Amino acid sequence: MSESSRVITSNQPGPHHDLARRVERALTHPLRKPLAEHTRQAFAAADAWRAARAEAPLILDAGCGVGLSTRRLAEAHPDCVVIGVDRSADRLSREHGELPGNARLVRADLVDFWRLALTAGWRPVRHYLLYPNPYPKAAHLKMRWQGHPVFPTILALGGRLELRSNWRLYVEEFALAVEQAAGRAAPVMAHEPEGDFLTHFERKYHLSGQPLWRLVAELPHRPELLPSA
Ligand SMILES: C[S@@+](CC[C@H](N)C(=O)[O-])C[C@H]1O[C@@H](n2cnc3c(N)ncnc32)[C@H](O)[C@@H]1O
Repeated sequence: MSESSRVITSNQPGPHHDLARRVERALTHPLRKPLAEHTRQAFAAADAWRAARAEAPLILDAGCGVGLSTRRLAEAHPDCVVIGVDRSADRLSREHGELPGNARLVRADLVDFWRLALTAGWRPVRHYLLYPNPYPKAAHLKMRWQGHPVFPTILALGGRLELRSNWRLYVEEFALAVEQAAGRAAPVMAHEPEGDFLTHFERKYHLSGQPLWRLVAELPHRPELLPSA
């Protein structure tokens, strides 16, 4: 079976010239955006759900879309709890079968959810960023996670952080940002799903013949990575 899915085009020939400056800024200037009340409530409910599961090791699926990966990760790691977070009510509401008992889907904005998670002392053992929106125009660097002020929070949570994308440059930039902010090498690797797709986007891109890329960074829990307010 084949699919057609557009290959990403960008006006950027290589890693963004402003990436290092933006990472440095995120490491030195606190993110002051107020937390949305609906995300506070969604986080509190997720926190209570987690606490009721005897603090089992946590896997975060950040930007989980319809939650296929959340389901698959929960099945693959029955000893863990898996929380999938996405801001799209439409995607989260699509029917994809019953959720395993150790999985939960949460509608929330990650920029706030990550900050609340760090403040609450969450320490995910695994943290997935699967096919984030690429924002391929150079002018949109600040919307990519590696160019966003929340980037240090993602790293500070710690654990095994895995990013996958069909845009190699996104993964390359993310690797540069991890090295700069956390001093950890995170080599960019080709990802070959071999018919075992974790997400819908992974399936779509692979069946369109696009190469896929990933990186894994093993990170310590380091709240002190954030600038003090
Ligand atoms: C390209 S889709 C990938 C979805 C899924 N991971 C997959 O591979 O099928 C990116 C997802 O990230 C979500 N997203 C983007 N920015 C977000 C944010 N700030 N907070 C929560 N979700 C966000 C979008 O709603 C979308 O579902």
